[in-house]
Amino acid sequence: MVVAVDGPAAAGKGTLARRLAAELGLPHLDTGLLYRATGRRVLDAGGDPRDPAIAEAAARALLPADLARGDLRGPEADAASSAVAAIPAVRAALLDWQREFGRRHGAVLDGRDIGTVVFPDAPVKLFVTASAEERARRRFRELQARGVAADPAQVLAELQARDAQDSRRAVAPLVPAADAVVLDTSDLDADAAFAAALRVVRARFGG
Ligand code: CDP
Ligand code: CDP
Repeated sequence: MVVAVDGPAAAGKGTLARRLAAELGLPHLDTGLLYRATGRRVLDAGGDPRDPAIAEAAARALLPADLARGDLRGPEADAASSAVAAIPAVRAALLDWQREFGRRHGAVLDGRDIGTVVFPDAPVKLFVTASAEERARRRFRELQARGVAADPAQVLAELQARDAQDSRRAVAPLVPAADAVVLDTSDLDADAAFAAALRVVRARFGG
């Protein structure tokens, strides 16, 4: 059983996917970490995240420990992840890994292209979204909680720029799968979003 959770930045995909996974007894994979860790490797090497050869080599060299690094969030890491994610060879390098993870025991995966590319046959697909303003507020609050100084207007601008880049790229753009259930959480807190998602899962599997 695979549950696909896709959507734009800071929509609450990770929070929702983690709770669904715990509820359903499935492993959870935050696929954004793969792109973030790839971008981080390129930055560490002093490379340009838009360089296809360097980014592909970084994706192929990823180790599980890279995903646990503490420096995968923040404006620089956000931008680098989105840049490497637009490179077809990077996406190809990360595809098998994601599919094996899901196939082994079933899983809840969250990202941008789980329902469209990674698991197009997933029985449950959720597209979690919210207004850009609300998503920027959520990301801003997260930064504040981590003690990171940030400017709300800049958080919004960077989030919109990343969404635009993720939506317009030629390969695996951010778009809801035709059979995804769209969950607009602009007016839902995390508990209400979880309850709504669980109703979708239960309707699909019964019980
Ligand atoms: O947490 P947030 O929604 O801000 O980002 P993320 O899910 O960690 O993803 C970081 C970046 O990785 C995104 O902006 C996408 O460019 C890329 N990504 C992707 O292309 N495909 C995925 N399945 C997951 C992430
Ligand atoms: O993975 P993604 O970037 O889509 O979002 P996240 O890392 O799960 O972060 C979303 C933030 O918004 C977290 O701080 C949540 O507590 C909060 N939130 C949410 O997840 N869902 C809502 N419906 C409302 C708020």
